[in-house]
Amino acid sequence: MVETPRFRRNHHHRSDSKWSIPVFLSSQKTLWTLLWIVGFVSLFIWQRNVIDGLLLFRKLPPKPIPKLRPFVFNLTDFGGIGDGKTMNTKAFEKAVASIAKFGKKGGGQLNIQAGNWLTAPFNLTSHMTLFLAEDAVILGADDENLWTLMPPLPSYGAGREHPGPRYGSLIHGQNLTDIIITGYNGTIDGQGNAWWKKFRQKLLKHTRGPLVQIMRSSNIQISNITLQNSPFWTLHPYDCKNITITGVTILAPIFGAPNTDGINPDSCENMVIEDCYISVGDDGIAIKSGWNQYGIAYGRPSKDIFIRNVSIRSMVSAGVSIGSEMSGGVSNVTVENLLVWSSRRGVRIKTSPGRGGYVRRITYRNVTFDNVRVGIVIKTDYSEHPDEGYNPKALPILQDISFTGIYGQGVRVPVRINGSEEIPVRNVTFQDMSVGITYKKKHIFQCAFVQGRVIGSIFPSPCENLDRYDEQARLIKHSINQNITNIDYDFR
Ligand SMILES: *[C@@H]1O[C@H](CO)[C@@H](O)[C@H](O)[C@H]1NC(C)=O
Ligand SMILES: *[C@@H]1O[C@H](CO)[C@@H](O)[C@H](O)[C@H]1NC(C)=O
Ligand SMILES: *[C@@H]1O[C@H](CO)[C@@H](O)[C@H](O)[C@H]1NC(C)=O
Ligand SMILES: *[C@@H]1O[C@H](CO)[C@@H](O)[C@H](O)[C@H]1NC(C)=O
Ligand SMILES: *[C@@H]1O[C@H](CO)[C@@H](O)[C@H](O)[C@H]1NC(C)=O
Ligand SMILES: *[C@@H]1O[C@H](CO)[C@@H](O)[C@H](O)[C@H]1NC(C)=O
Ligand SMILES: *[C@@H]1O[C@H](CO)[C@@H](O)[C@H](O)[C@H]1NC(C)=O
Ligand SMILES: *[C@@H]1O[C@H](CO)[C@@H](O)[C@H](O)[C@H]1NC(C)=O
Ligand SMILES: *[C@@H]1O[C@H](CO)[C@@H](O)[C@H](O)[C@H]1NC(C)=O
Ligand SMILES: *[C@@H]1O[C@H](CO)[C@@H](O)[C@H](O)[C@H]1NC(C)=O
Ligand SMILES: *[C@@H]1O[C@H](CO)[C@@H](O)[C@H](O)[C@H]1NC(C)=O
Ligand SMILES: *[C@@H]1O[C@H](CO)[C@@H](O)[C@H](O)[C@H]1NC(C)=O
Repeated sequence: MVETPRFRRNHHHRSDSKWSIPVFLSSQKTLWTLLWIVGFVSLFIWQRNVIDGLLLFRKLPPKPIPKLRPFVFNLTDFGGIGDGKTMNTKAFEKAVASIAKFGKKGGGQLNIQAGNWLTAPFNLTSHMTLFLAEDAVILGADDENLWTLMPPLPSYGAGREHPGPRYGSLIHGQNLTDIIITGYNGTIDGQGNAWWKKFRQKLLKHTRGPLVQIMRSSNIQISNITLQNSPFWTLHPYDCKNITITGVTILAPIFGAPNTDGINPDSCENMVIEDCYISVGDDGIAIKSGWNQYGIAYGRPSKDIFIRNVSIRSMVSAGVSIGSEMSGGVSNVTVENLLVWSSRRGVRIKTSPGRGGYVRRITYRNVTFDNVRVGIVIKTDYSEHPDEGYNPKALPILQDISFTGIYGQGVRVPVRINGSEEIPVRNVTFQDMSVGITYKKKHIFQCAFVQGRVIGSIFPSPCENLDRYDEQARLIKHSINQNITNIDYDFR
């Protein structure tokens, strides 16, 4: 793009050749005039180049970083070097240790300036702000030998991919309070490519680590940054309270980046995810709460979660998921103003016998599917168990799920709710739905073992499993067929 103007010079050369040079040179006056002109033009061009050069290489002074804590440091104060090659692990550790001393005095802020700051995993501390300037990139070391091994999460009983210990996260925190990660849209980059490759080649002995994982902590704010190329799940708050995630961009390749979920609220309560853009290689957001007998024993639900104004692309999985690990229960989740585009599935609830727990009081409002294969999915036979020690009679409860304002276009299957005799889906509500479909097929709104209602008219027309109400919520027709099955998996 930048180069086009340079080629113009050739045109001038060509037009010059049209002039009759000998006639001009015949008079000395003309020669002098010509020399003057040449001189002036050269001077002019030279000056312009100098100014252009200055403009081109002009370094805008970096935007001043706001002071958000009483004590402020730069990573360079601790010997950090942002050349993309030098390891900054020690600098981060020293910085965090210093900030830890100011906890009682309002805490400390660590500024990461423009540059590429390579590091192995490091831990955060309470009352800390990590501020990533514009063009600041924290790069995760991709040598797994540098990554801390940690015991499996208690509510999972095993690493998600291998039994036994798991890799920790690049940026990690445990038992903390008052943590802020923010900036002028600086980046934390997990350099996941090496991890994805090793995972595919089965060269890893332990479960890959998330990019950012904060455990058993409270009062967490993550805003105005970009998280990309996580080895595994990207942002994993585990057993945390009071978390706000806003203005965060999360990126990973949409194919070939296995398990790069965007945000995984896991046994968390009182959480807001707002104004985010997520395009990743697995679920955009997946709300969880532990796995089978381990999750049931840990017993911490994910609840009171608000997701608003989020745009997601997920070619492999779904925009917003609940489960499949939901054994501690999931309740009171609202998903509002969600756009899922060019994706495999829009929103999905996934579970299985053995999980136990519940998913209830889930509200989807103003959700748009643009070019999505399957819009709304509830799947009750997901399997995937950590070990054989689960109780197959531990059946999850799915109920009180409402969909209001579901729009879209280019959708193949708008709804596929596959409850079962063991795990029926109860009290589902549909209201104000209009989804443009790519195929005209009869049973496109697919249901099995679903009890619930449709208020007003919706498009495409609903399955017979649901009761029909008019716009004023007056019963028109009771379904006598809640349990019939018209799930058609051949039609993907
Ligand atoms: C951090 O770096 C900025 C820009 O280089 C500088 O203005 C500021 O004084 C430094 N702050 C500290 C605490 O060293
Ligand atoms: C971070 O904290 C965890 C949990 O205490 C610990 O296992 C790990 O070694 C710490 N990592 C570093 C780099 O200090
Ligand atoms: C955090 O607290 C849990 C339990 O309260 C404890 O098991 C764990 O060791 C603590 N971790 C750290 C790093 O202090
Ligand atoms: C932040 O950076 C990402 C990645 O470079 C970019 O896609 C996004 O638009 C930026 N967001 C803002 C608000 O500038
Ligand atoms: C939630 O955390 C924010 C900081 O992230 C804090 O300002 C607020 O007081 C906390 N709310 C509660 C109820 O603790
Ligand atoms: C995010 O950045 C915008 C400006 O781009 C600013 O107005 C807003 O306060 C920031 N939000 C947070 C929570 O840091
Ligand atoms: C919605 O989120 C995007 C970031 O994905 C942001 O740019 C936009 O301002 C937000 N819209 C509203 C209405 O808050
Ligand atoms: C449900 O969650 C929202 C936050 O998303 C919270 O404001 C509300 O109080 C919760 N409702 C109940 C009944 O706990
Ligand atoms: C519905 O969500 C879309 C984003 O998908 C947003 O642009 C629109 O403003 C929302 N509508 C209302 C009424 O909030
Ligand atoms: C059905 O679910 C809705 C929320 O979607 C809730 O308001 C209502 O109380 C539930 N009905 C029953 C009978 O539990
Ligand atoms: C629907 O779920 C039932 C049991 O939960 C399962 O046996 C069946 O295979 C599922 N249907 C399809 C088409 O996958
Ligand atoms: C549908 O199946 C559920 C659970 O298996 C059962 O409780 C319910 O009575 C059945 N409904 C009808 C109308 O047969």
